Amino acid sequence: MPVIYDVSMRILSGIQPSGTMHIGNYLGAVKQWVDSQNPEAYYCVVDLHALTLEIEPAALREQTTDCVASLLAAGLDPEVCTLFIQSHVPFHAQLSWLLECVSSYGELSRMTQFKEKADRQEGYRVGLLTYPVLMAADILLYSAQQVPVGDDQRQHLELTRNVAERFNNRYGEIFTIPEGVHPPAAARVMDLQEPSRKMSKSISSPLGSIYVLDEPAEIEKKIKKAVTDTENEVRFDWETKPGLSNLLEIFSSFEGSSPEVIASRYTGYGALKSDLATLVIESLAPIAERYRELRSDPTAINAVVLHGDDKAAQVAGPVYRRAAAAMGLI
Ligand code: AMP
Ligand code: TRP
Repeated sequence: MPVIYDVSMRILSGIQPSGTMHIGNYLGAVKQWVDSQNPEAYYCVVDLHALTLEIEPAALREQTTDCVASLLAAGLDPEVCTLFIQSHVPFHAQLSWLLECVSSYGELSRMTQFKEKADRQEGYRVGLLTYPVLMAADILLYSAQQVPVGDDQRQHLELTRNVAERFNNRYGEIFTIPEGVHPPAAARVMDLQEPSRKMSKSISSPLGSIYVLDEPAEIEKKIKKAVTDTENEVRFDWETKPGLSNLLEIFSSFEGSSPEVIASRYTGYGALKSDLATLVIESLAPIAERYRELRSDPTAINAVVLHGDDKAAQVAGPVYRRAAAAMGLI
């Protein structure tokens, strides 16, 4: 597998505390965060983004702590990188407003994720439309050069670059233009039951998503029941075999070999599914175990976050103030 990170680069990424972490989040983003962590890496739980859809306050509170515990369990080391909560660093919301004033309604309303989410509800929140501007603020406040995210965030990254360039042209060179970094395999993990749709926290068929904290028996059942095709010929081909290709990419991401090499080892779906189930169970078990230990001590989690919030604010504050001053705020 190619090395995709230059660890001397400033990195920022975020994850919403809007549900339990699934293997799409893990393989598409979080595994990369762990591999690329260094003193220049900033990772945040984007609780403000979670408010763009209806969520119970009590659930958001719990899920935010769950999310921090999951990230630590997955391998983020707060002695190495900075892990913080978006809403605890007020500059995110403040810069978001400034950037809203250099973004257009047209470009925001063209975002695919906005259109999909807005289509599913009547009277959607304005925050759903402005969501990518807040994401741009998250990234630009840290002068991030690299943003490790799944494939679904490409468009938001492009918007961030456009907004940053527009700002710099109009008000002066304040922001670094970031680049999205996507994993070589499993950058878009699909729903196991509906391989035309991405695995998602918000909409998912009961057997469609594998969660990092799933019990082994559940993982096995979901993989065995994953939708494939009737050919029983193991070939990596997204066009004609999306279900199987999704399984091969998941396999590839956990194992490190290419999907084609893995495909060449099997002559039928049964053995492939059975080996994949073993691999996924073995890979996730240590994370689930660490999660349970960590989650039983919310005070320790809180201490990690407070430390991270403080470090994050020290970087974000000066950038915010430069941006505000450049726009004419006194
Ligand atoms: P979210 O849960 O929407 O906050 O996403 C957190 C991170 O996981 C982002 O970098 C997403 O791009 C990534 N992600 C979410 N769903 C998937 C998926 N099905 N496949 C790959 N990456 C994903
Ligand atoms: N929009 C991202 C998602 O849904 C989450 C996110 C918010 C993010 N802010 C970010 C990702 C900054 C990378 C950088 O997946």
